[in-house]
Amino acid sequence: MRNTITAMATSLAATTTTTTTTHHEFHIAPMQCYTNQPLRKLTSFLSPTSIKWTEMEKVDDLLPDLEHSLKKRLGGEENETNLILQLGSSNANKLQRCVRVALDHYPKLREINLNCGCPAIATGGAPTYGASLMKDVSLTSQLVESIASTTEINVSVKCRIGVFDTAEDIAPMGEKQYEYLHKYVTAIHDAGANHVILHARPAILSLNPVKNRIVPTLDYGVVHRIASDFKGKVKITINGGINSLIDLKTMQNDDTTNISSHMSGRWCLRRPLDLMEIERSLVDKAMPDVQSAIHHYIEYAVKNQNQFTIGELCLPLYLIVAQLQEDYEQERESNLLSWEEIETLHNIIEDGLLTKLSNGKMKKSNSIKFKKLASSFKPLVGTKVVNKWKRNRAEL
Ligand SMILES: Cc1cc2nc3c(=O)[nH]c(=O)nc-3n(C[C@H](O)[C@H](O)[C@H](O)COP(=O)(O)O)c2cc1C
Repeated sequence: MRNTITAMATSLAATTTTTTTTHHEFHIAPMQCYTNQPLRKLTSFLSPTSIKWTEMEKVDDLLPDLEHSLKKRLGGEENETNLILQLGSSNANKLQRCVRVALDHYPKLREINLNCGCPAIATGGAPTYGASLMKDVSLTSQLVESIASTTEINVSVKCRIGVFDTAEDIAPMGEKQYEYLHKYVTAIHDAGANHVILHARPAILSLNPVKNRIVPTLDYGVVHRIASDFKGKVKITINGGINSLIDLKTMQNDDTTNISSHMSGRWCLRRPLDLMEIERSLVDKAMPDVQSAIHHYIEYAVKNQNQFTIGELCLPLYLIVAQLQEDYEQERESNLLSWEEIETLHNIIEDGLLTKLSNGKMKKSNSIKFKKLASSFKPLVGTKVVNKWKRNRAEL
């Protein structure tokens, strides 16, 4: 069985080496509790070209000591490149202050993004931040303008294709809903943003974030239509439900749309190593070397133990182990790595964990046991975090 799979993996790998440059962009979606500096670091080693996002930072939580809070939340690396800072706020003055301080300390930020898509906001109807801002075109404009007038760098908005109060109100995207979205994107553009990321589902304000990623159905057609209507004016990034290399490549190769930029969230958590293949689809280069990527990450984790908790530093490695465990136990050809490489990675991560990150508390196993390796991570990462990740994985 193993030999057959190795042969399949080799032949699939040979097929994918013919991939050419697409000039598309790929964004790793902002995700609370995940896209902190350690995960961004790992993803940078696996795919330097992909665009990384911070978690959403609520401006009210960063105040009053903006400088200190930003440093704590974003990590101390001021020159991190290819990074978009996402902010959540409904107050133009506070937002502007935050943007000023952020740019003083992180001058290499690629873009500032306003979150208009997060649904977890029960406020009795008053727009606060996130998806409820989609109900208020004028407030959204003011907020975008307050950022755009503060900086020369690009400003963007991440939102949904529509917004409803309850699941009962939800209606298929008819002309009226499309016109509203068109008006919303026009207002964003007029206020100074040149990039809109559309999660291709409407938001339902009364549902929690998990249900909001499952209950409303995806409608890519609306995103394509907006991309075509705003061609040359606003760059449109499509998000939602891009869950595999096949999904991504199908979208990248569809030259009937004006989409040139794709964003994915949960797929990158479930299969972070797929980022190496994404990298190859973005640039005309050989796939990054996975072993050195992991070695570099372990080196980074060891060096930054004073800045981050052991749980934060180990979570990215745990995501990789979980992907390898899935492939190894299901004997599934990963299309990326041979079994020998998978086994080598097991040993590199086990050694890194045992000797460098867990202060020698873990015992080395004398065989390849991903299940055991995954459970060694639990006390380091924390059972609560592991369970949350399992729930997020089950959403797909
Ligand atoms: C755990 C988790 C946390 C998220 N946090 C944020 C966030 O901070 N800001 C945001 O704009 N979207 C957030 N999202 C939504 C994602 O950015 C993305 O829009 C959504 O997951 C749909 O993309 P996907 O189907 O590729 O996962 C989060 C999603 C998940 C799963």
